[in-house]
Amino acid sequence: MIPPNPFNPGSPVDPDDFVGRTQDLESFRQKLRQTINGSLASMSVAGGYGIGKTSFLHKCKAIAEEQNALPIYFSLNEMDELTREKLARVLMERVQEKVNEEVILQRISSHILAMLKKIKIKTEGGVEISLSEQHHETVPNLQSALTATWESLKDIKTAMVFLIDEARVLERNRAELVLYLRAVLEQLQLNKTPVTIVPAGKLTITGPSGTGFSPLVRTFPPAILENFSYQESRSFIDKKLHSVGMAVGEEVLKKIYQVTEGHPFVLTAYLATAYSKLTSEDSELKLEHFVAADLEFVKRVLAPFFSRFYDQSGKSSRKILYEMAIHAQEEISLSGLSAQLQKNSNEISPHIGKLVQEGAIVRKERGKYRLFHHLLRNYILHKNQ
Ligand SMILES: Nc1ncnc2c1ncn2[C@@H]1O[C@H](COP(=O)(O)OP(=O)(O)OP(=O)(O)O)[C@@H](O)[C@H]1O
Ligand SMILES: [Mg+2]
Repeated sequence: MIPPNPFNPGSPVDPDDFVGRTQDLESFRQKLRQTINGSLASMSVAGGYGIGKTSFLHKCKAIAEEQNALPIYFSLNEMDELTREKLARVLMERVQEKVNEEVILQRISSHILAMLKKIKIKTEGGVEISLSEQHHETVPNLQSALTATWESLKDIKTAMVFLIDEARVLERNRAELVLYLRAVLEQLQLNKTPVTIVPAGKLTITGPSGTGFSPLVRTFPPAILENFSYQESRSFIDKKLHSVGMAVGEEVLKKIYQVTEGHPFVLTAYLATAYSKLTSEDSELKLEHFVAADLEFVKRVLAPFFSRFYDQSGKSSRKILYEMAIHAQEEISLSGLSAQLQKNSNEISPHIGKLVQEGAIVRKERGKYRLFHHLLRNYILHKNQ
C-alpha cells in the first residue's frame, strides 16, 4: 500500500508543514506582540497566484492562537462591490462567527456571544448595521463596535487579529477601503483596543513597480512572498515525504528545483503528479516517476493554472506573451518588444503594465522583462503549435 498523496496543490498547507518565510513570520510575530502591548501594528501579504498567501495567513492564524489572540480569517473573494458599510458588516459578522465557533468548542462562554450580538452600528450616514434582532448598544462606527467587542473579550483574549484573504478589492478607488481601515486602526490606537489587520492578495500596496510610494506602506508594511529558495524547496519536499516514509535523492531534488523554480504551487503540483506514479514496490521517489509525470503535469495539471495568464488575457497581451516565449534569451526590453511587434512603445506599455500586475511577467532592472516562469513559455508555445 502506498500512503495517501501528501501533496495537495489545491489547498493551503497545514501550518505544521509550513516551511520557509522565516523573516515574514517573525515580522508577523512582532506586529502581534506590539499590538498585544498596546502599540497597534499591522502588515500586509503580497504575491502572485499560488505563491503561498493563503498558507501564510493560515500560519499566522496558528501563531495568533498560540498567543491566545482571536484570529479571524476570511476571504473577500468574489466581493466586487464593497462599500465601507459592507466591509464593517463583514468584519463584525466574522468576529461573531468566530466567537460562535469558539462557543461550540466550549472555549468561550456563550454569554460573550450574546453580548456581541447586542452591538449595533448606526453610522453618521444613517446606515444601520446590526446582526440580530435585539440591539441595545448602539455605536456610531466600526471602531466603536470593535472596541465594544473587545470589552467582552479582553478578559480571555490578548488581541483580535483579522486575516483578510483575496483582499485586492480593498485597493479599488485609490485604495479607499485600505485607507478606511487605516483610519479605523488609528482610532483604535487611541483607546488601545488591540486589533491587527493583515490583508493578503495580489496587492500593489508597495505602489507601482515597487516605488514604495504608497502612504499605506507604513500602516501595512508588506511581506512580499517570492519563490522558495533551493533550501526551502528541499525542506518542503523532505518534510512531506518523510511523513509518508518515502525517500528522495539529491539529484532528484535538484531536478525538481530546476523545473519548478521553487514556485510553491508549481512545486506542489509537480510532486503531486510524480507521487501518483509510485507503485507499491517503491520506497523512493525517483527520476523515472517525474519522467512518467511530465506530460500529464504540463498538459493537465498546470494548464488551468497557466491559462489565466495567457488564454484569459486580451489579444495584444497574448501577442506580447507569445513574442516573449519565442525569444530564446531570457529577458527582453520594451524597445526590443516594440521592434519585434512593430508597434509603438506607447501602445505596448499599458499591456505590459497589466501583465506585470497579473503576474504573468516580471519586471527586472529598468525596462527588462521576462515570463514569470519558464514553464509558461512551454505552455504558450504549445498553445500556438
Ligand atoms: N510556506 C509553505 N510551506 C509549504 N507549502 C506551501 C507554503 N506556501 C504555499 N505552499 C503550497 O503551495 C500551494 C499554493 O499555496 P497557497 O494556496 O497558499 O497560495 P496562494 O498564494 O494563496 O494562491 P492563490 O493565488 O491561488 O490564492 C499549496 O499547495 C500550498 O500547500
Ligand atoms: Mg489563496
